Amino acid sequence: MNHKVFYFTGTGNSLWAARLLSRELGSAEPVPIISPGAFDGINELDSVGIVFPVYMHRMPHIVAETLRRLPKAGYLYAVAVNGGDPGKVFRFFRKQIRPTGNILNAGFSILTPGNYLPMGEAIQGEALDDQLQRGAEKVSRLAGIVKRAEAYFDEEGSWFRRNISPGLFYSLGYRYIAKLDSSFSVDDSCTSCGTCQQVCPVNNVRLTDGKPVWHQNCQLCMACLNLCPEGVIQFADKTRGLRRYRNPFVVAADIAAQKGV
Ligand SMILES: Cc1cc2nc3c(=O)[nH]c(=O)nc-3n(C[C@H](O)[C@H](O)[C@H](O)COP(=O)(O)O)c2cc1C
Ligand code: SF4
Ligand code: SF4
Repeated sequence: MNHKVFYFTGTGNSLWAARLLSRELGSAEPVPIISPGAFDGINELDSVGIVFPVYMHRMPHIVAETLRRLPKAGYLYAVAVNGGDPGKVFRFFRKQIRPTGNILNAGFSILTPGNYLPMGEAIQGEALDDQLQRGAEKVSRLAGIVKRAEAYFDEEGSWFRRNISPGLFYSLGYRYIAKLDSSFSVDDSCTSCGTCQQVCPVNNVRLTDGKPVWHQNCQLCMACLNLCPEGVIQFADKTRGLRRYRNPFVVAADIAAQKGV
């Protein structure tokens, strides 16, 4: 059997899930969605898995753009890595692939720590270990479904969550994500180490005179903020003093590697 897993990640949860899944499927290391030519030849694969974080009940813009250009695949499935509110992610996925003639055969939801720091700190300690353990077990089960090429869908959010609260706010805000980086700032104690620039998957943050500058083409993946080793990147006034999050099985270099550096 010839399976391939593709991923996008900000703080490592999706990469962690994609690695576990690749291992369970006996396939090679997962492939970054943003690597050039990533999807060449996918029509010859037995399965194509897309692993990504849920943003505003949907997905990062760059994942949606990729799906709208996806070459024809056979058994195609989505793994929506989320913080507990997948919203309408599978409906949104189907809408993106509609013009490509592809069909979404399965959709899996994996509960992970939330990395959107302005909404609060991620869980830690035993609670974190337990959640990742349950996530790993779920990946193992979903690998079985993929190997058998079965149809399967986890539940999305309730009608109220999808359409009213917080769904209405997300529907209005989703299109403006790229410009929300105007809320980032850096404290004077920045050491000019360059990690924020290295981990940004779309080169939206670049050092100028040794300090990060954001360029209004943001995915809002929160990698720069969460992976800064000094914790000196802030989002508005909401993140000062809060513990940063990175998946414990992933390091900053792994995240930087998704864009091939
Ligand atoms: C901008 C943004 C929006 C998010 N929106 C949602 C959401 O609507 N529902 C949810 O369950 N989690 C949401 N999350 C949490 C992430 O989906 C979750 O933490 C995921 O594990 C991050 O994966 P990563 O570590 O691979 O980047 C959001 C995170 C970010 C950064
Ligand atoms: S990662 Fe943090 S300390 Fe390093 S350059 Fe960026 S803001 Fe400065
Ligand atoms: S600027 Fe920061 S939040 Fe925006 S895409 Fe780059 S790493 Fe992610």
